[in-house]
Amino acid sequence: MADITQTPEWAALDKHYGEFADRTLRELFADDPQRAERMSLTAGDLFLDYSKHRAGGETMELLLALAAKSGLRDRIEAMFTGEHINVSEDRAVLHVALRMPRDARLVVDGQVVIADVHAVLDKMAAFAGRVRSQEWRGHTGQPIKTVVNIGIGGSDLGPAMAYEALRDFLDAGIEARFVSNIDPADITGALRGLDPATTLFVISSKTFTTLETLTNARVARDWLVSGLGSADAVAKHFVAVSTNAEKVAEFGIDTANMFGFWDWVGGRYSYDGAIGLSLMIAVGPERFREMLDGFHTIDEHFRTAPFEANMPVLMALLGIWYADFFGAETRAVLPYSQRLHRFPAYLQQLTMESNGKSVQADGTPVTVQTGEIFWGEPGTNGQHAFYQLLHQGTRLVPADFIGFAEPHEDPAGMHDILTANLLAQTTALAFGKTAEEIAAEGTPPHVVPHKVMPGNRPTSTILVPRLTPHTLGQLVALYEHIVFVEGTVWGVDSFDQWGVELGKKMALALEPALTSEQPVADYPDASTAQLVRRYRKLRGR
Ligand code: F6P
Repeated sequence: MADITQTPEWAALDKHYGEFADRTLRELFADDPQRAERMSLTAGDLFLDYSKHRAGGETMELLLALAAKSGLRDRIEAMFTGEHINVSEDRAVLHVALRMPRDARLVVDGQVVIADVHAVLDKMAAFAGRVRSQEWRGHTGQPIKTVVNIGIGGSDLGPAMAYEALRDFLDAGIEARFVSNIDPADITGALRGLDPATTLFVISSKTFTTLETLTNARVARDWLVSGLGSADAVAKHFVAVSTNAEKVAEFGIDTANMFGFWDWVGGRYSYDGAIGLSLMIAVGPERFREMLDGFHTIDEHFRTAPFEANMPVLMALLGIWYADFFGAETRAVLPYSQRLHRFPAYLQQLTMESNGKSVQADGTPVTVQTGEIFWGEPGTNGQHAFYQLLHQGTRLVPADFIGFAEPHEDPAGMHDILTANLLAQTTALAFGKTAEEIAAEGTPPHVVPHKVMPGNRPTSTILVPRLTPHTLGQLVALYEHIVFVEGTVWGVDSFDQWGVELGKKMALALEPALTSEQPVADYPDASTAQLVRRYRKLRGR
């Protein structure tokens, strides 16, 4: 695989950066009255204005040429048709199949994929329906009031984020809670106030070997059995979501109550399948299917729209422009929606576990920065915390602002104030305020430099009609495909995550040293040995 940085397309961008980097957004807007209109597009219900980026027509042409050079078009087809593009694990990458309509046709490695996907969705819908209608009852005959999803990483962040996002759609009086951390505070906090007789645990783990999840699941099982006084209660209060039926059975969950998926769904791409079971129980199968339809809308856009009008492609290329040419270290994702407060955390796994790689798919080292670092908080909370650095700091932090036109509730017209803040921030970031403008307001000269707003700070604005299951699916698919495009240009395998394995193994090896009373073994590193000794002393061991 050719190193993308050695191509003429990359060299052309490098040269262009040298000529263009000093242009300001004030100049760019003054030079082109059509700029906002030209640099905007719609995909599904999402409207993107990317005119407040430090990019001109030539920039976009050069970036699009880079995308073409990377073989993006073929690679998109390779994903959608089930080629094994996850090379290090020799697997297809087919999360897009999880939201294909029932009549789609896709056979991969001999598997009739769409039929299997819909069989699981139907099984989930039937089960969710029984729980929601109170037909499914707990061991003592009471209906389920709370669903506790136990999972971590992709088996937690997706359903947890979406549950928060769709709180306005909870219509069955069933609450969901999410437990992920091995920190005992997490499970004890989640169980507090719950009645075992009305609690259903969904144990979500692709592998069903993950230490955190299995440990929390055992704690939950003990809690339930001691609360209800019988091990038989497990059958009515535990279901599993996994690809590993053997381990599910070993844990003691009837595989009739297991909801499956396949090795071609990466953990961080899985909440639109069975990993979304807790969400489906809370919002209902109908709303869940609307969400899948939203995903599919953007999948189709991504697959078919020309790159110059392709939202994920354009946003990804701008990400590369800043990360690799301007040297931007991070990208802020700023939803102007309290409901999306877990969205940045969800996106962190998506981007960093996918593209945090130092070698290309063929094993040769990459030669540029890969893996965008996403972070953020909902507006306006962020404004009163870290926006100071965005406006006047020395670092360049491109930002995605996400706003919604219609609120679900709107006492005192608050929603317009929220939206005005979004628009004010992107305007101030882009155009700033000059020393002359500040001095003209009568500001004392020694204060003027402190008040100068440099501007020229790039943002995307995504405007969405309303936060619904359908638009949430669109937003998530948008970012999934942004990550895909960036991974393609960088030439990395975006679908493995070998980097998390070593730490997991070391933790298993270290745990006995923390708990035993034997002298601490000689660790190869003195720092860890010292910390183990100190920890044991503090624990009185
Ligand atoms: O942290 C690594 C990881 O494998 C993630 O990719 C995954 O989402 C998470 O652990 C949970 O894995 P599992 O669903 O197998 O429990």
